[in-house]
Amino acid sequence: MTAILLDGVSAHYGAVKSLDDVSFAVEQGGRVGLVGESGSGKSTLCRLLVGLRLPSGGELSVFDRPVADHLRTDARQFRRNVQLIMQDAVASLSPRMRIRSLLQEVITIHSLPADETWRWIETLTARLGLPNSVFERYPHEISGGQARRLAIVRALALKPRIVVADEPTAGLDVSVQGGLLNLLIEIQRELSLTYLMISHDLRVIRRVTGRMLVMYLGQIVEDGETEALFRKPAHPYSAALLSTNAAHAPGKAGQPIILHGEIPSAINPPPGCRFHTRCPVAQTRCKTDPPSLRRLPDNRSVRCHFPYSLSFA
Ligand SMILES: Nc1ncnc2c1ncn2[C@@H]1O[C@H](COP(=O)(O)OP(=O)(O)OP(=O)(O)O)[C@@H](O)[C@H]1O
Ligand SMILES: [Mg+2]
Repeated sequence: MTAILLDGVSAHYGAVKSLDDVSFAVEQGGRVGLVGESGSGKSTLCRLLVGLRLPSGGELSVFDRPVADHLRTDARQFRRNVQLIMQDAVASLSPRMRIRSLLQEVITIHSLPADETWRWIETLTARLGLPNSVFERYPHEISGGQARRLAIVRALALKPRIVVADEPTAGLDVSVQGGLLNLLIEIQRELSLTYLMISHDLRVIRRVTGRMLVMYLGQIVEDGETEALFRKPAHPYSAALLSTNAAHAPGKAGQPIILHGEIPSAINPPPGCRFHTRCPVAQTRCKTDPPSLRRLPDNRSVRCHFPYSLSFA
């Protein structure tokens, strides 16, 4: 089954084109990473996937049916099956309720078997290194790191089929991060979940995902196997993004490629290739002719007229 399918999806906030012509598919059980600078449209994509917004154009399906269809006919089941771990974990926990009531509410809304679900919640909580006493606290009484882990517990409590995780490790101590990532991978395997994971920390993406999507200004510019992409990025933007990150294998890190200039506005994106204003290898054609996402030999797709060679010659 295809868990997620986007075909030419766009999303606009008024004049802001947050997503433009986004296409990709994820099979059930896949772990996919999504990376790109701030404002490239990652959170917008998350909101579309869980049905918090509808696309302005294009086709968006989950489990082989349009999301709009799910919302019309089986909204509650859809909302259970497709969970979003929000970028702002603390704000996602309602402030007036103790954690216990907050979790109980999820159980009630989805008519889950209470005893069994509480056992599962306690297992998750323990595996995430949180004490049971956290259930008796209010969200403002716990740390940001604890709130983030609780947001993960709440999402996994429902045994969803797709988890969209927007920066699940942001603000966590490195010591906690490793355990959390291991747990996410273990649970993904136990439940054959599909993950779409966003992180500014490329080490997290490299550790968790098998495939990654690189976004620039609302578009996917590269899509390929994570390891292959880290080793040999084809798009000049991916190359720059990966070059500045500590995720590179030791001894392989070249000079970081510094991009000049700010990310252009999504209200008025550059003509031609959106990246041409910052691209170190742009040519005349790139200023006027927008490249489309095209397939390269090794399961790679790239939106560039002059991608870096993937051959090892
Ligand atoms: N509610 C909104 N109203 C208007 N514009 C919005 C809204 N939400 C997002 N945008 C715009 O859409 C674009 C994409 O934003 P989005 O939040 O999806 O980026 P992001 O990749 O998640 O960034 P970050 O890494 O900072 O979280 C940006 O230009 C942003 O300003
Ligand atoms: Mg975001």
